[in-house]
Amino acid sequence: MNTNDRLAEILAVHRGREGALLPILHDVQAAFGHVPEDVYQPIADALRLGRAEVAGVVSFYHDFRAQPAGRHVIKLCRAEACQSMGGSDLIARLEAALGMKLGETKGDITLEAVYCLGLCACGPAAQVDGQLIGRASAARLEALVAEVTA
Ligand code: FES
Repeated sequence: MNTNDRLAEILAVHRGREGALLPILHDVQAAFGHVPEDVYQPIADALRLGRAEVAGVVSFYHDFRAQPAGRHVIKLCRAEACQSMGGSDLIARLEAALGMKLGETKGDITLEAVYCLGLCACGPAAQVDGQLIGRASAARLEALVAEVTA
C-alpha cells in the first residue's frame, strides 16, 4: 500500500472527529515511522486547517519525528524529576560518547528526548529500544547500546 492510500485510510478513520489532528499524526507516525512533510497539506485539507498549523503541531510535540528513526532508539528523560537527579549530565555524557546530539540519528541509532517515562522516582530514566532503565548511568547506557547494536 502506498503512502497516499495509507494516509487516506487514516484520515477516513478520524473523519468528523473533534480534535483529530493529534490522533491522525500519531497514526501517521505509527504507519510510516515518522511524519513526512508531504502529509501536512492533505491532513490540513481534511481538517480545514492551514498547512502551517499542522507543521507547527508536528514541530511542537517531541514525540513526532520529521525523519525516520534508526533501528535503535535511545530516549533520555528531560523532565524535571530526572533533571534533578543528574539527567543533564547523563545526556551530555551520552551525547559525547555517541558523538551525536539529542534529536539526531546517526547510523542505526536515534537519540531523542522524552518528557517523563513514568520512572520519576528512579531518575535519571532512559529507554533503549523500549526497555526502561531507571537510575541510568552513561556507562550502563553505553554498554546497553553496544549490546543492542552488536
Ligand atoms: S521525570 Fe523522568 S521519568 Fe518522570
